Amino acid sequence: MKLLLLGPPGGGKGTQSKFLVNKFSIPQISTGDMLREHLKNNTSLGQKAQRFMDSGNLVPDDIILNMMENRFKKTDCKKGYILDGFPRTLTQAEGLEKLLSHLKQNLDLVIVINVDDDIIIDRMGGRRIHPASGRTYHIKFNPPKKNDIDDITGEKLIIRIDDQEDTVKKRLEVYHSLTKPLINFYQSKDIISFINGENEIKKVRRDIFHLIDTKKNV
Ligand code: AP5
Ligand code: MG
Repeated sequence: MKLLLLGPPGGGKGTQSKFLVNKFSIPQISTGDMLREHLKNNTSLGQKAQRFMDSGNLVPDDIILNMMENRFKKTDCKKGYILDGFPRTLTQAEGLEKLLSHLKQNLDLVIVINVDDDIIIDRMGGRRIHPASGRTYHIKFNPPKKNDIDDITGEKLIIRIDDQEDTVKKRLEVYHSLTKPLINFYQSKDIISFINGENEIKKVRRDIFHLIDTKKNV
């Protein structure tokens, strides 16, 4: 199964991806997590990406497409994957089409998680992440068992640098101008469905699982 989760920053793509990973045993491919790993390891890619990420802008398409070309070569992608946060521009979507056609693959389903901007701004202040795994918590809506501690490893949770309110507003602006047009792109291919991401986390999860069940070819 090859899924793409599309939606605004803070819309719940990462949270829902983890449920899908557990249920279907396919990898989550989050370009945001991959870039943060580069930043942490201070690679040359990370150094190029940092200023774009910290300011809430997109990392240039050629960097992302190269990174993804390498990612698709890994054997864990054979059974399928969940794309989280890629593609994010029309150029990336076209690049993805080319990569997939080389691999003789197609996306099965594009799920758009819709959440209003005001709700996103409220949510982001409460997000905490476990950087090594990408596990995501929320102090109110999805708290860890112990304050600021990852449930699985016992390691400390952090606040993402780009979760400050002004940067979140910039990321939303970028989403509306550069990423939302992908909805039309995938609508023309007839593989897109929409989910209300404003419901509570468990309800969004149920709706996504139900949607996948109803798609015969997925
Ligand atoms: P990335 O890491 O992909 O960030 P994003 O797309 O902005 O999305 P987020 O990870 O912030 O949100 P999410 O949808 O995963 O929500 P989450 O589940 O965490 O990208 C970061 C940066 O990297 C970009 O700005 C860009 O610079 C660069 N980048 C990445 N990919 C790129 C690309 N392809 N091209 C160019 N640049 C790229 O949930 C958010 C919070 O809400 C959590 O606290 C969660 O617990 C909570 N929550 C989730 N669902 C609910 C719910 N239903 N109700 C209440 N709370 C909820
Ligand atoms: Mg995420």
